[in-house]
Amino acid sequence: MGPTVVDETTSGRSASIRQRDFPQQSFLGTPATAPGPTGLGMLRDLGRIRANPLQYLVNMTDTYGPIVQFPIPRPPTYLVSDAAAARHVLMSSPRAYSKNTIQYSALSLITGTGLLTSDADVWRRQRRLVQPAFHTGAVNAVVGHVVDALDRLQPVWQSLPTDGGIVDLDEVLMRSTLEIVGASLFGTDLTAAADRLSRATLRALDVVVARARVPISPPAWMPTPGNRRLRTAVAELDEAVGAILQGRADSKSAQGDMLDLLLAEDDQGDQLAPLEIRNQIVTFIVAGHETVASALAWVMWLTATHQDVQDRLRAEADELLGAEPMSMESLARLPYTRAVFDEAMRLYPPAWLITRRALADDVLAGRSIPAGALIVTSPYLVHRDPAVWSQPNEFCPERFFNVDTRAGAGAQHFWPFGAGPRMCIGREFAYVEGVLLLAGLARRVTWTTPTRSHAPQPEPLVTIRPRGGVPLVVSRRD
Ligand code: HEM
Repeated sequence: MGPTVVDETTSGRSASIRQRDFPQQSFLGTPATAPGPTGLGMLRDLGRIRANPLQYLVNMTDTYGPIVQFPIPRPPTYLVSDAAAARHVLMSSPRAYSKNTIQYSALSLITGTGLLTSDADVWRRQRRLVQPAFHTGAVNAVVGHVVDALDRLQPVWQSLPTDGGIVDLDEVLMRSTLEIVGASLFGTDLTAAADRLSRATLRALDVVVARARVPISPPAWMPTPGNRRLRTAVAELDEAVGAILQGRADSKSAQGDMLDLLLAEDDQGDQLAPLEIRNQIVTFIVAGHETVASALAWVMWLTATHQDVQDRLRAEADELLGAEPMSMESLARLPYTRAVFDEAMRLYPPAWLITRRALADDVLAGRSIPAGALIVTSPYLVHRDPAVWSQPNEFCPERFFNVDTRAGAGAQHFWPFGAGPRMCIGREFAYVEGVLLLAGLARRVTWTTPTRSHAPQPEPLVTIRPRGGVPLVVSRRD
């Protein structure tokens, strides 16, 4: 096991604090209301919340226990870090907990009512119509796009001096994951449009992250600078999607990519309307690009600082991929590489905040929750809970050989892809992309930290990004 990974976000957290007694019943025997900071305390902390939201969530949990009530009257807002309670919320039917929250409303300014933001019957119909685009054959095709993306990186490695050169692997991976999602969705004929589309999406997301961080934002129609930036970015998005759909309509022939499947009728003759297709395309760019790139950027940093892990994953990749070309079957035969990817997502889950709105009164971990409440859960807190994970801040991929991450006990404490009916539709896509890209990189290059480098600080935006990127010394292996 390598040295302890400590970042300022988690330092000081201890099992003894988490395991303190937090009374769960009022003297009348009814569920107690949850403890939490006062309005004044929260006002005093505003600067700290903005500067480091992850640390704030950790502090609140350590101070007040597994259910924290924030002094926000409308909606009453609760932070839920108890794994069973958080899973109960996520696993409940959309009739009990909906996605009608500030975060998803802000996101829907970009994605519209797409699969990520829709609710109830609208969501159910969309999921049924979109699911075929993620069938096994479509996910198999991702392998070819990973191989293409690795080939396109070859000139970058060739241009490095023989003793290695500094490359920001975060930037490289952002580009590669965009290429892969773009090619899987639109086919290679439309990569230029995909590039425009994703740039506009990322610009719009900046505005939306700023909106979602404060309880009250100016209405979207007000001509504030943020709203104007958002409107311009969304107009660009719409233009790029329009061009893609027009191109597909003009070509009249199926390309065999995910877009074809999105455009198809289902067996009941139902079909997504043009606006719904636009919303799904933007949703896939938003949900499927930066998430995988962020997870991989952390993998690169963690394996640069744990050379033993990097050596072991390279040995696994060499043994398998030295003997046969990369294929869908490779995934099952790279268990250590997959464990490295999982362990990075345990420490830095890209989707670090998952919110829901309670539609009826409920009780979570012994605390009463009123209908209308905003529930904030975070895999970041559950994944580092010292009561569950031994040495939770250590990077130790081996632990995934002991925890079944798909079912059984471990699943409750590891959910980078969410849980329940709204679980990520792109989970298999992400594993194929993430694990195979990592194995392919390990075959081609080695990476290590430059002298005088500092651990990048986690910056929780839409995903947890490594602030300042991941500049590492990269050397090609030939
Ligand atoms: C490491 C990569 C990824 C992570 C960590 C991740 C995480 C998540 C999480 C946590 C959710 C559930 C959100 C909630 O319950 O509120 C989700 C939903 C979703 N993800 Fe992913 N995701 C990843 C990759 C992808 C990819 C590659 C795609 C598509 C190409 C994708 C598309 C979606 C969509 C469409 C939903 C909404 C599903 C629904 O509600 O029916 N994701 N993702």
